[in-house]
Amino acid sequence: MPPRKIIIDTDPGQDDAVAILLALGSPDELEVLGITAVAGNVPLALTQKNARIVCELADRTDIPVFAGCDAPLAHSLVTAEHVHGKTGLDGPQMDDPTMPLQETHGVDFIIETLRREAADNVTLVPMGPLTNIATAFQKAPDIVEKVREIVLMGGAYFEVGNITPAAEFNIYVDPEAAEIVFKSGVPLVVMPLDVTHKALVTAPRVDAFRKMGTRVGEMVAAWTDFFERFDKAKYGSKGAPLHDPCTVAYLLQPELFSGRTINVEIEVKSPLTRGMTVADWWYVTDRDANALFMGDVDADGFFNLLTERIARL
Ligand code: BDR
Ligand code: CA
Repeated sequence: MPPRKIIIDTDPGQDDAVAILLALGSPDELEVLGITAVAGNVPLALTQKNARIVCELADRTDIPVFAGCDAPLAHSLVTAEHVHGKTGLDGPQMDDPTMPLQETHGVDFIIETLRREAADNVTLVPMGPLTNIATAFQKAPDIVEKVREIVLMGGAYFEVGNITPAAEFNIYVDPEAAEIVFKSGVPLVVMPLDVTHKALVTAPRVDAFRKMGTRVGEMVAAWTDFFERFDKAKYGSKGAPLHDPCTVAYLLQPELFSGRTINVEIEVKSPLTRGMTVADWWYVTDRDANALFMGDVDADGFFNLLTERIARL
């Protein structure tokens, strides 16, 4: 089978960086057509730069990187330097990338790619606020039916929120964009906090990256080391959740995850619960299902896959 074509939409972010590396370490299964950066964890000027740093680290300067939207659809940008550090990729020493940023806007790249490719050929993999994807759908409604699937990190049900008591960061930053995507009719696979909080990089798992003896392994160890200080202090957990790599891992080994096909609506109005993913986990409404909302992951299987693929780079 030829590799599955994907566009990664991202706001790196240490966990985004690991997710991109997981995809680039899996060329037999995944063909990364391009990476579109969006404002999220840090402003766009940094996320597009960080995406290029990651491609260079993997020696994949052939992957085109595009800058997309620099602000959410209807609100001002909320960032997460308190988690990711000032650069978004704090941890190891990093040089500025030398590979160029593409001139095309990220949204136009998404539109042009979907128009060029046959229907059901391209999967979108968003790991940040959904601004780029929603803007592309608004600007070019004809592309919506051409998307094969969207596999995204965002939202929560049992875990509720990590940026407010009610909302997960990616959805909170741009709930209007999330609403467009969740109502688009495209098949959706959602990796909420309920799953990602089970994919923890504990000390032995960080060590496994470091022991690879490669530059990529060292960088992943340094990033995850930095990233875990926040979650350990805040939640008393044994490590940091590798949120975004769950999306790519699903594309590689879907059997690692389990969930329910349910209705998920996005709260856009209430100031108290803005960005909440109202997930009908218990089927208490008759609203139509619009997402495969994951609830569990085989964490050891996930880390075995991750370390095996990162070691290839
Ligand atoms: C999500 O928010 C960001 O901080 C992470 O990169 C991840 O995409 C988790 O809530
Ligand atoms: Ca992210």
